[in-house]
Amino acid sequence: MALADFDLVLFGGSGDLSMRKLVPALYHRDRAHDLPSTARIICVGRHEWSRDEFLTALNDNARPHIAQELFDPAFWETFCTRLTYVTLDATNASTYQALVDVMRKDASITRIFYLATPPSLFATICNNLAGCGLATAQSRVVLEKPLGRDLASAKLINEEVGRVFAESQIFRIDHYLGKEPVQNLLALRFGNVLFEPLWRREWISDVQITIAEELGVANRMGYYETAGALRDMLQNHLLQLLCIVAMEPPTCAAPNAVRDEKLKVLRSLKPFTPQTIAQNIVRGQYRAGHVNGMPVPGYRKEAGANPESRTETYVALKAEIDTWRWAGVPFYLRTGKRMADQLAEIVVRFKNIPHSIFAQPNSSFQPNCLVIRLQPDEDLQLNLMAKTPGDGMRLRPVELELDFRETFKMPRMDAYERLLLDVLRGQLTLFMRSDELEAAWAWLEPILDYWEREQDQPVPYAAGTWGPAAASALIGRDGLQWREEALPEL
Ligand code: BG6
Repeated sequence: MALADFDLVLFGGSGDLSMRKLVPALYHRDRAHDLPSTARIICVGRHEWSRDEFLTALNDNARPHIAQELFDPAFWETFCTRLTYVTLDATNASTYQALVDVMRKDASITRIFYLATPPSLFATICNNLAGCGLATAQSRVVLEKPLGRDLASAKLINEEVGRVFAESQIFRIDHYLGKEPVQNLLALRFGNVLFEPLWRREWISDVQITIAEELGVANRMGYYETAGALRDMLQNHLLQLLCIVAMEPPTCAAPNAVRDEKLKVLRSLKPFTPQTIAQNIVRGQYRAGHVNGMPVPGYRKEAGANPESRTETYVALKAEIDTWRWAGVPFYLRTGKRMADQLAEIVVRFKNIPHSIFAQPNSSFQPNCLVIRLQPDEDLQLNLMAKTPGDGMRLRPVELELDFRETFKMPRMDAYERLLLDVLRGQLTLFMRSDELEAAWAWLEPILDYWEREQDQPVPYAAGTWGPAAASALIGRDGLQWREEALPEL
């Protein structure tokens, strides 16, 4: 479907996200001829940049993030003609006139305001956009995380933005939902009959969702110290992945059909109590160690760190979903910085066979397992038992593997590219609704309160490892192991 002409305004247009992700994503889509020839991108920031200074910033900060094979100097020049820079102080209403002046007045042109700014500015920007007449009923607003730091602040954001924009105009981004394998999980579940009948407590033993990063907090200490892994990754990315795994089949792919089902999952999560928090959650913070053979400092020794910080850089928890489909199936979620590997995956482990007809005992069977890998490779793996060739009947685990890149041999589309296209099309399915956001925070609220009340100290783990030993004990109590611990030694 061809896109309608648009004016896309990037608040925080000189910032890291715009330069590293958004502008390169728009370039990639332009290169694929997805953008209408007259569409424009207006970067808004506080710097008093001339056109030349803006172009230099684009060359220095955005251009290096464009895929090398797609970079063409002549095309880049043409692409840059779509971009304008407007100096504006988001908190000062009188400076918005500069934005009004550059925006096209034709009502058929879609106006999109992308707020890649701290959430403390959301309300002010929305009010100022309304004040200068730019926030019309046809416009859209895109909100970047963090969408709050607890239930109250998330509600406030919803309320304040909601006073200016209707829910159908608000796009709350979670870039994990734009990742190809996440959408493939929807295709796998609802485009095949094979899995859905087994997708329940009778056949699934447990689900593990891991997002492990080798990176530390880089230059984001100011934000990260006030957030931590639970707020930064679990509240959004991990819970959204859990929703896609656990939701009931929606009646269609329409935004509210999908979002209603995700909301039901969030509302069915078993609430934590002080006792289950102590038992079922592990909080860690990295100390010095080695990542990829290179020595790295501990979190408290990073530049700008609080030497007594209690912020967690790792969290693992066992969640349960109180529904007929999922009662009793543990969902283990974990994420951490400075871990042994850069990896994001969903592991759905099935139950073991009920009875072995072979000479081998049940215990020698490896239960079937479906692995949906999001990073570093995008693939899908199904572990089965098969006969070892030759004489006799000896079974051993084998893998069926589907490598998306190999199979489709199509250029890759980054999560931000896909989500930006959806915003430009007005397609809300992959964006969180206000009630989803609040349900996720409501579930985490008792944990945040408990940690604060108890002045909880994260347990240390060495950088470059899989996190605290307590996380292995957490899953080990149920007689299970994290996937990397369960894999046979090569
Ligand atoms: C962001 C977090 O939302 O996701 C970062 O704020 C994290 O801390 C990033 O590094 C991970 O995203 P990805 O796509 O690189 O796995």
